Amino acid sequence: MTKHLFIKTFGCQMNERDSEIMEQLLAQSGYIPVAEQIEADLVILNTCSIRAKAEQKFFSLLGSLRQQKKKQPGLRIAVAGCVAQQEGERIFERMPHVDIVIGTQQIWRLPELLQRLEQGKNKREIACGLDKHFVIPPFQKLLHNSPPASEPLEFRKFVTIMQGCDNYCAYCVVPNTRGREISRPVSDILEEVELLVQHGIKEITLLGQNVNSYGSTNPVAEVPVSFAELLKMTAAVPGVQRLRFTTSNPQDLSTELMRCFHELPNLCPHFHLPVQAGSNAVLKRMHRKYTRELYLEKVAELRSFCPDIALSTDVIVGFPGETEADFSQTMNLLETVRFHGSFSFKYSDRPNTRSAAFPDKVDEQVKGERLEQFQARQDEISLERNREFLGKSVEVMVEGHSESGVQGRSGSNHIVHFAGQEQLQPGDLVMVTINHAGQHSLKGEL
Ligand code: SAH
Ligand code: SF4
Ligand code: F3S
Repeated sequence: MTKHLFIKTFGCQMNERDSEIMEQLLAQSGYIPVAEQIEADLVILNTCSIRAKAEQKFFSLLGSLRQQKKKQPGLRIAVAGCVAQQEGERIFERMPHVDIVIGTQQIWRLPELLQRLEQGKNKREIACGLDKHFVIPPFQKLLHNSPPASEPLEFRKFVTIMQGCDNYCAYCVVPNTRGREISRPVSDILEEVELLVQHGIKEITLLGQNVNSYGSTNPVAEVPVSFAELLKMTAAVPGVQRLRFTTSNPQDLSTELMRCFHELPNLCPHFHLPVQAGSNAVLKRMHRKYTRELYLEKVAELRSFCPDIALSTDVIVGFPGETEADFSQTMNLLETVRFHGSFSFKYSDRPNTRSAAFPDKVDEQVKGERLEQFQARQDEISLERNREFLGKSVEVMVEGHSESGVQGRSGSNHIVHFAGQEQLQPGDLVMVTINHAGQHSLKGEL
């Protein structure tokens, strides 16, 4: 019997990838995805706990599902992801209408938990174990059951290369919610990439919280392979037209990896390198293991290998104890690097993190002002950076058609609009000459 599945995903690409896995797993038990929560027999909320706001969003959606369940008693509600991992049983206490709580390493057991629920063994099911020897199961078998031909053509995919994180930055929940850092075996990764390419995928993004340290935590007895080596092997898989990766920690950024931007033609010229703060005192309290000077050196070295590389970053404003002088160092770093774009956030206390107990919390209003100041300057710089593309010809991968023409993405990760032909398909590569630069996108002609 077909049942209807609705998954709402919060948070990062790891969660997006996990949602995809859950969807594929459940397809084998007859679940088909629907576009509206109201049509679903099973709603999965795949949650994120990175900032207080992310968690609040989830709890308010969960509150609204209570009404739906009253009207539709057969509705099953599952909570997955980082809040599930962090809160475990407490989710049932707060939200008794939840049926399943499933942790970040347990998503593979979802069909089993659903089955047990149907058999009425328990009123609720929970699986939240975190194992430091956990090996990500190979996804290959899932692919064979993947999207029927009627689904829109997909052309890019994430491939998880490692999970967890061992860095324990003072503000961050990830080491608690995703467990120890574990690299996947190279052979699994390459086999998955090969299969994806056979299924028509053209762009691969290698995924992990800390990809630069790939291989230093490989549980499987294999010859250790560095991230740069893995990148080269992936780039060499025939049919991989574009390659990206995320996320990097500056502390582990090697020259060998930087050189890849010079050597690998299919590696996109975009690097997301979170800096978090421009002040050494703040970086130290954040437990980031690099200084402002080292970060700037890495940026300069990266640009020596790939002068046009587009850089983006993450920044936290208002970390406990951040003074005006500290914050001006962050602004100064922004002026120095001139990032193409950035994600910036107000610091928020998170459960079981060290900084939650730090003194000298920055006032909410001050955080708000700093964030505004940072974002306003970033917007100006983004526009200036985008204008550097005027008159240049860039390679664009088509993503789809819109009212105003075709939309695609440059290697530098900019959205590009252009008037184009109907026959262009998602995943096609074309050359576009840029003739208009906006703050968030570029326009051009084929
Ligand atoms: N692994 C990546 C970051 C993943 S989390 C790295 O090491 O950089 C994504 C971003 O969320 C972080 O880069 C940080 O800027 C932000 N973030 C994490 N914890 C936060 C907190 N407690 N308050 C505000 N922002 C936070
Ligand atoms: Fe969190 Fe730091 Fe790990 Fe990134 S490197 S996931 S910020 S602990
Ligand atoms: Fe959020 Fe967990 Fe990702 S906390 S950012 S979903 S690893």
